[in-house]
Amino acid sequence: MNYQYDALFHNVRIASMQDNNALYGELLDTAVAVKDGHIVALIDAQNNREFQQHAEAAKQLIDGNNQWLLPGFVDCHTHLVYGGNRAIEFEQRLRGASYLEIAQRGGGIKGTVASTRSASNEELLKNAVKRAKRLCEEGVTTVEIKSGYGLDIDTEVRMLKVAKQLEQLLPVSVCTTYLGAHALPHEFADDADAYIDFVCEQAMPLMATEHLADAVDVFCETIGFSTAQTERVFNKALELGLPVKAHVEQLSDSKGALLAARYNALSVDHIEYLADSDVPELAQSGTVAVLLPGAFYYLNEVQKPPINALRSHNVPMAVATDFNPGSSPLASILTAMNMACVQFQLTPEEALRGITAHAAKALGLTDRGVIDAGKVADITLWDIDTPAELAYCINGHRPTAIYKGGVHV
Ligand code: NIG
Ligand code: FE
Repeated sequence: MNYQYDALFHNVRIASMQDNNALYGELLDTAVAVKDGHIVALIDAQNNREFQQHAEAAKQLIDGNNQWLLPGFVDCHTHLVYGGNRAIEFEQRLRGASYLEIAQRGGGIKGTVASTRSASNEELLKNAVKRAKRLCEEGVTTVEIKSGYGLDIDTEVRMLKVAKQLEQLLPVSVCTTYLGAHALPHEFADDADAYIDFVCEQAMPLMATEHLADAVDVFCETIGFSTAQTERVFNKALELGLPVKAHVEQLSDSKGALLAARYNALSVDHIEYLADSDVPELAQSGTVAVLLPGAFYYLNEVQKPPINALRSHNVPMAVATDFNPGSSPLASILTAMNMACVQFQLTPEEALRGITAHAAKALGLTDRGVIDAGKVADITLWDIDTPAELAYCINGHRPTAIYKGGVHV
């Protein structure tokens, strides 16, 4: 028999995350029809006769038992492919050393570069699977993963290939980002401009022609790269047809966000030191503000991102784990949500938008992040009374079911 739908989810409360004026974009008395991995229709379940007809057209009828149905989560900023870990630096920081001092003495990102270069592909993959699995268990169905712990071509390519391989092993879509301009490798010591030449002339063209990266990122910061260097990377990326994003204003107000907005960046990430007066330009460029409360927490930062200004200018705010071995060893998107609420005073609704609709936008993805006809059928079910519970309780919830592209996993 030829069914019109592969599955029909009914008896659910839907947090569609559409922009429809309802809290959580809630849809009442609605069923979700899925075919070939996509949501093909939202069906009025109030009209019994009509609903019965649709139900008969479905190969499988999924009774949600009045649970909440949410879009699969999108973790739009991670660095989860890396070698080694930095527990020892965590210890050093607790004995008084700062993140900056550790970075300046060759630890920090550079330490992870050494351990990533020496790790085999198998080791990198094995550990990346473990980390990504944690995210998936919480309902993440799309994850962005950056390179940036290799810095040489060989290791950066290996990182990005390992990242993409996760799609074969876990029910998750992977967006890859080339973050060559993350730190200065020792081969280029004291010559950051020469390293940027290498990034622009050798690495980025390869990333583009081999389709290894979906976007390009830069760490624009006093301990990273200057705005002039960042601009060179942006120019090259756009020339190659790759969208840009950047780590900006994490430790100081370097005006990286303004620059990123001028290059129509997909997102500006961290932004604790972003000035209120720079927010209107982000609103204009449609750039997403990605909040990374895990890094704020681990670094014991006190400067908070300008949430009120972002809110009042309607800049979409996303929330991500920034899962990395140094500033944010955080393998939990739900904890990131909680932290965004407690530390940055996001509402639970804003936080949930931050890991769904706005996170998808931060990756330039228009086919996910909300429950609507035409979107991919990345769907999770939750045994909760209100979606606010997800942000409210730490380690309190897991989805009762996850569907990736319409397939139960
Ligand atoms: O997002 N800010 C730069 N990059 C990472 C930190 C990476 C690391 O410490 O290894 C971040 O916080
Ligand atoms: Fe980061």
